[in-house]
Amino acid sequence: MHERHGAKQPERFDPAKAAALDDPARFAYLPAEALERLLDLPRGGLLVDFGTGTGTYARALARLRPDAEIAALDEQPRMLELLRDRLAAEPRPNVRPVLSDDAGLAPLQGRADRVLALNVLHELGDDALESLARLLKPGGRALFVDWSADVERPVGPPRGHVYGPAQAKERLGRFGWTVAGEALFDYHYALVCAR
Ligand SMILES: C[S@@+](CC[C@H](N)C(=O)[O-])C[C@H]1O[C@@H](n2cnc3c(N)ncnc32)[C@H](O)[C@@H]1O
Repeated sequence: MHERHGAKQPERFDPAKAAALDDPARFAYLPAEALERLLDLPRGGLLVDFGTGTGTYARALARLRPDAEIAALDEQPRMLELLRDRLAAEPRPNVRPVLSDDAGLAPLQGRADRVLALNVLHELGDDALESLARLLKPGGRALFVDWSADVERPVGPPRGHVYGPAQAKERLGRFGWTVAGEALFDYHYALVCAR
C-alpha cells in the first residue's frame, strides 16, 4: 500500500464504509454520462479507474462504453473483493479488477488513454500521484473529480478533508499537470489534466 505523504486526508478509506459508495443517489448529483463526456475516451481505449472502490463508476462507464477496456485499480484487496462480488452479480466483461501493487501496475505503465481519479485526490500521497501519471501513454489525460471544499454538502467527507478546485489545481500544477478542461457539479469539481 502507498505512503500518504502529501495527501490532504492521509487516512486510508475504511472498507466498512463501502456501502456508501454503492448509493445509487450518487448518479443524480454526479452522472456517469457527464464523466464519460469529460473523459472523451478514444474508441477501444484503455481507461484506468485509479482508486475504484466497489467500482460503482467503473461499472457504469463500462455499460456506457462496452468498446472500452477498464482497469479498475485499488490498493486494498478487500475493496477489489467487493468489486468482484458486484461483477459476479452483474457481469461487465470489460472491467478488470487490478491490485495497485508493483505487479498490478507494471503491465499498465504508459498504456492508459485516460485515468479517472474519482473522490480520491484528497487521499493520494505524492508517490501515488506520480504512479498515476506513469500509467498514461503520451498524449493521455487524467480526469480528477473530487468532493469540493468550497461547497456546503449533505454528503461526502468534511470540507476540511478535501480540496477546492483552486487548491486542487495548485497541487496538480506542482506535479507538472496542466488543466485542459474543467467542470463543476453540485458537490464536485472536475479537472481534465495533461502532463
Ligand atoms: C473514497 S473511495 C472512492 C472509490 C471510487 N472511486 C468511487 O468514487 O466510488 C477511495 C478508494 O481509493 C482507494 N485508494 C486510495 N489511495 C489509493 C492508491 N494510492 N492507489 C489505489 N487505490 C487507492 C481506496 O482504497 C478506496 O477504495
